[in-house]
Amino acid sequence: KSVKIFSPATVANLSCGFDTLGVALDGKGDTMIFTKTDKNKVVITKIKGANLPYDINQNLVGVIAQKMLNESKADFGLDIEIYKGFIPGSGLGSSAASAAGTAFGVNVLLEGRFNTLELVNYARLGEEVACGSPIADNVSAAIYGGFVLVRSTDPLDVISLPVPDDLFITALHPQIEIKTEDARTILPTKVPLKDAINQWANVGALVSALYSSDYQLLQRALKDYIVEPYRKQLIPHFDDLKKAALQAGALGAGISGAGPTIFALSKGEKLSYEVLEAMGQSYKNKGIDFNIFNSKIS
Ligand code: HSE
Repeated sequence: KSVKIFSPATVANLSCGFDTLGVALDGKGDTMIFTKTDKNKVVITKIKGANLPYDINQNLVGVIAQKMLNESKADFGLDIEIYKGFIPGSGLGSSAASAAGTAFGVNVLLEGRFNTLELVNYARLGEEVACGSPIADNVSAAIYGGFVLVRSTDPLDVISLPVPDDLFITALHPQIEIKTEDARTILPTKVPLKDAINQWANVGALVSALYSSDYQLLQRALKDYIVEPYRKQLIPHFDDLKKAALQAGALGAGISGAGPTIFALSKGEKLSYEVLEAMGQSYKNKGIDFNIFNSKIS
């Protein structure tokens, strides 16, 4: 028996919600095939699209799959094929897509033994392997789809949020790699109370905007007082790019996850292509290769 799954790329943080908010993208992500075997072990048989280890103790896919089979006392093994749709270190949740895809795919072969929250917990192990912290925002978005809010990680509490009909995301990925671990170590361990107030006010406003499809409120809420000022220094020409997106009419723009990808949210597909054009133009002739794409949120 075999199962083929697609696990989406995700944008974490969404400006105001560091480690708390995430959203899944449509069409971009990893494809994985899980096949039951009678060998009683997990084997990664194929990896395409990225240079990742086949060793099941080093590849987060192997780590998660083994743990799920062990803890459910499964009487079968697995062959796993991984087709990466986008590269690690982009800020679009590459490790999270593989981790979430593994938790989901293995659970299908285990006939749905684990519930959704348990799958997020398995997938988080992959984030720990990949960057040292069991972050839940990207993996939750990949597993639930749409927007999610991670209210707590201990105990895990994930809330699925509504997706307004007409929301599109543009992502520009400069071809430099930022390790999540590095992008986390530069952050302050304490924040001024006035920044914290602004930040949680915006998270509340963003959640309200999603429920009411209030695009203007969404525009006011997409701000980051705490993380962006530090991380933007790692992304060449970030300010220019953000300005270009906003001038073209985006509701907001910021760093996708730990970067270097920069995302912009727009109301309507037509406008999102104008934003894509403006962001692309702004990054041309800067001497850094990049790719850029638009996605509906799903
Ligand atoms: N919330 C995480 C961060 C996402 O920004 O570091 C990256 O995995």
